[in-house]
Amino acid sequence: MRHDEQVLLIKQLCARLDAGTNVDAGGLRKLPTACFTDPALAEREWREWFVGLPQLLGMSGDLPEPGSFLTNDDLGVPILATRDDTGTFRAFVNSCRHRGVVVETEARGAKRRFSCPFHAWTYDSGGALVGLPKGEHFGAIDKDCMGLVALPAEERHGLLFVHPDPAGTIDLDHLLGEWFNDEFPTWNFDALEPLTRDAYATACNWKLALDTFGETYHFSVLHKDTLANNFHGNVQCYDEDGHLHRMILCKRSIDEMRHLPEEEWDITVAGLPVYWLFPNVILMPFEAGVFLVRMYPDRADPGRHLSRIDFYLKPEIDTVTPEVREFMEHIAHNFAEVIRDEDYVMSSSQQTSADAGTLSEVVFGRNEPALHHYHNTYRRLLGIDELPLLDEAAVVAAPQN
Ligand code: FES
Ligand SMILES: [Fe+2]
Repeated sequence: MRHDEQVLLIKQLCARLDAGTNVDAGGLRKLPTACFTDPALAEREWREWFVGLPQLLGMSGDLPEPGSFLTNDDLGVPILATRDDTGTFRAFVNSCRHRGVVVETEARGAKRRFSCPFHAWTYDSGGALVGLPKGEHFGAIDKDCMGLVALPAEERHGLLFVHPDPAGTIDLDHLLGEWFNDEFPTWNFDALEPLTRDAYATACNWKLALDTFGETYHFSVLHKDTLANNFHGNVQCYDEDGHLHRMILCKRSIDEMRHLPEEEWDITVAGLPVYWLFPNVILMPFEAGVFLVRMYPDRADPGRHLSRIDFYLKPEIDTVTPEVREFMEHIAHNFAEVIRDEDYVMSSSQQTSADAGTLSEVVFGRNEPALHHYHNTYRRLLGIDELPLLDEAAVVAAPQN
């Protein structure tokens, strides 16, 4: 983020702290809870947004050198991603062209050849079929046509995008918009190294998990013994553009930093930027690195999802001592545990109410603009009427079922 913008945002946070105010969405909105339970809606979301759009597979540091690979099964299609001999990011359907066995079963590593465990058909990191045992017995096939099925793949700003449909297209100019395409290079995401990975299967809809990242109104209550030690709750900056939004949460270290000369101000010390990439990604750059959080629906049950919470370390931190590295691992796991043990307990509880069907609507406050934006963006893209902005007087109890 450009430094002049950092200064503007920090001033905005200070002004809100001093005045005891917060961002204001201009009104309230009511959301039907059926959006967390409706199987038909869940199926549309899956088809249109998870199978039908490019997905963030990880960051450049997940494939640090030619020969690096990772596999992914979050999108219903087994995916093998590689960095080929030329250093190019590639992605394939991880299914053998002989009889469909998953070729690579390890989560990640370094290999230049991928050998199928069934009959040892072998592929290189560019997906080409380079080995077929007893070819003279098997029969003549054109090896050039029997490589792994390629998936559209693109690496930009240190982010790895793949489309789970071989016929899909990736349009990062649109997905990231002018805003994020302009701002992301300033973070040097491409230099980051993966440090920790946590994954939690949780009994709540994926959007409820995402909603916990959409406001800090809850910090002084739910996180009073954890995150509230480091953050001022109920104070933030918020901006949106089309299907994108960015929040700046407010850290307590702003109290000291605001007295330093402006040239020394740093938005990752004063606050925590939170970027939302449609539909399921939260990116949070902070002093030592970046948290990447992704939520994936459970196809069998709208009331369940899988969250992945990964932390990537800045290289200058990595060159410090093993103790620092260990400390950062501890911090990252600890953060993930707060999400699991505090936020997701609330999300599961919300799911219980939604499943019961006795609460037909919930309310988003003026100080929760990201929640307004998540849900209206989803609705707009599904062709459903957007949630109207209501003034306080209009928020009356909805008739219950
Ligand atoms: S299924 Fe892969 S080699 Fe036969
Ligand atoms: Fe939270």
